[in-house]
Amino acid sequence: MRIMIIGGGGREHAILKKLRQSKGNHEFFCLPGNAGMAEEATCVNIGAKDIDGIVAFAKENRIEYAVVAQDDPLALGCVDRLNEIGVPCFGPTAKAAEIESSKIFAKNLMKKYGIPTAEYEVFDSPKKAYDYVKKASYPLVIKADGLALGKGVVIAENAIVAKDTIGSFMETMVFGQSGSRIVIEEFLEGPEVSVLSFCDGNTVVPMVSSMDHKRAKDGDKGNNTGGMGTIAPNPFYTPEVQKECEEKIFKPTVEAMKKEGRPFRGCLYFGLMITKDGPKVIEYNCRFGDPETQVVLPLLESDLLEIMLATTNGTLDKTEVKFSDKSACCVVMASKGYPVKYEKGFTIFVPEDIKDNVYFAGVASSCGELVTNGGRVLGVTTVADDLRSAVKKSYEYAKRISFRNAYMRTDIGARALNALDDKK
Ligand code: AMP
Ligand code: GLY
Repeated sequence: MRIMIIGGGGREHAILKKLRQSKGNHEFFCLPGNAGMAEEATCVNIGAKDIDGIVAFAKENRIEYAVVAQDDPLALGCVDRLNEIGVPCFGPTAKAAEIESSKIFAKNLMKKYGIPTAEYEVFDSPKKAYDYVKKASYPLVIKADGLALGKGVVIAENAIVAKDTIGSFMETMVFGQSGSRIVIEEFLEGPEVSVLSFCDGNTVVPMVSSMDHKRAKDGDKGNNTGGMGTIAPNPFYTPEVQKECEEKIFKPTVEAMKKEGRPFRGCLYFGLMITKDGPKVIEYNCRFGDPETQVVLPLLESDLLEIMLATTNGTLDKTEVKFSDKSACCVVMASKGYPVKYEKGFTIFVPEDIKDNVYFAGVASSCGELVTNGGRVLGVTTVADDLRSAVKKSYEYAKRISFRNAYMRTDIGARALNALDDKK
């Protein structure tokens, strides 16, 4: 099959590596991909948001299947457009992708169908929002309605921060139209769990659980980032929590989307918080998480392409989806200063024997060498019998990789390991 993957980060590299293990003879094209993927696929310089360019490429190159991995093209209707020209896709239509691209749509869906989430109010005028936060109790959480590069959520500790946030989202419009409407919600507490799932519109099959580490610095300090590392499985996702999530969150969400005439096909990501009142949805994403994918897919034992095709064809209930009972850890190596300000263009050295463990993200090619080209440069994943060994091995591997200004957190997996120790 001639298969196209839309996106160009570590997540897409993880998808590509796993798809290359699928049965059959396949040719892979990544739009745009990145220089670190170029040995495993043909990378084509067409941006993930250039829907016209993607559609034209698919037509000219007789693409037979497309995996749309990134949020923007999904929200922009990439799947709808490719379907129109007869290219089947892994990923939701724009209407189904609204579960991520509109927080207001997601919150209203959960309210309508009784899916547990934080209490909230929606505001479409700054005046009403200012009035509300004057009388509110703190902390509270302010979210821009639309996509905002993962930066559209602010935890306001007091009325001054709340007022500033409303001003920047709704009046200065720092995220453009994405912030013209906002959600203000209750602050929840508890460990976070990410659960990615395969969906075919009717059936939902959860993957192994994982834990992201979103803050830039050790001890969950510093700025929010795209994610500095992940581990799987997540020890806070106990069998009891899993059962409750399946009954009260996963199945009801997929049913709700079907009833709303927006059947969800592709990967539905549940961002959950395990509160003292049980698991609640913090957010939905309409795609694989990054860097969750870099620990989840290495644990998948079944054929990824077969599963993806089953989500497209509606045959997921007849398809094997099996995960190993090992553990995985991904340590992200970033450019010093990320996510605020950083330099690029430094040569990256990766020993040959650990190349298979590396998922490239912000990299480019310069004079035949791989150089840094972004904030999150690459992720190093290892799989082991237990989490402690996986964490140790990922750090050992990461220390063998070098580029100038390399920065990584030193405590990926620490919270999970403490939780495992407490269980003993
Ligand atoms: P989101 O983009 O919705 O995942 O939010 C980013 C991060 O903000 C989450 O991973 C949580 O750590 C935090 N967050 C979002 N909503 C809440 C909430 N209602 N209560 C506490 N923390 C939250
Ligand atoms: N790692 C969080 C996300 O992909 O949204």
